[in-house]
Amino acid sequence: MSCDSPLIIALDHPSLDAALCLADRLDPKRCRVKVGKELFTRSGPDVLEALHGRGFEVFLDLKFHDIPNTVAGAVQAAAEQGVWMVNVHASGGRRMMEAARERLDRHGLETHLIAVTVLTSLEEADLAEVGVAGTAETQVERLAQLAQDSGMDGVVCSAQEAARLRELCGERFLKVTPGIRPTFAAADDQWRIMTPQAARASGSTHLVVGRPVTRAKDPMAALAAIEQELAA
Ligand code: C5P
Repeated sequence: MSCDSPLIIALDHPSLDAALCLADRLDPKRCRVKVGKELFTRSGPDVLEALHGRGFEVFLDLKFHDIPNTVAGAVQAAAEQGVWMVNVHASGGRRMMEAARERLDRHGLETHLIAVTVLTSLEEADLAEVGVAGTAETQVERLAQLAQDSGMDGVVCSAQEAARLRELCGERFLKVTPGIRPTFAAADDQWRIMTPQAARASGSTHLVVGRPVTRAKDPMAALAAIEQELAA
């Protein structure tokens, strides 16, 4: 089933049962879902099968980072399980990203392949400590351009970075942005937040939303409220 919503709901649940319980309250025609490291490490490919069986398109957010051959194999494995999107770390370098791209192309796999630039948890002092001189902003721009040159379909970025990356990489380059908070929701532990509407206006192509939907009493009502904000 294909979905044309920009919304991706983060299923940051510790178990398969909990994730499916939430998924069963969502409509696969109106959102996609994201499976991250904890859920996948606990439940394995079963979670993908269960979500696909319910009609969801899945973003498998495992942020692969390894030697080119290993990452290419991991990306192929994800794509063969039918995921809609998978990601790697751009800091793994050009050869790693090109190997992943080439592997998908060679096998005719149409999974979207995107890259993480700089984790938003890293501040400039953290970057300096791992040998990255200059600002996080400059590093994000450098890695986004490298990702595009290496055949990635887009990047994960903050909504604050999306406008600049639209200038640098164009409209069609995907900009998948977390840190989204609808006007009705609390900020939780996110600090640089943006509303869905502002994020779309800034050039985000896909919005990753977690707790405002997953912790809502009525998740589908929360999703509908976000759709209304987007349409307003
Ligand atoms: O609950 P919340 O909407 O904050 O969840 C956001 C999701 O996006 C989580 O899965 C989180 O791990 C992910 N994420 C993020 N910030 C990043 C990268 C990913 O919040 N820079």
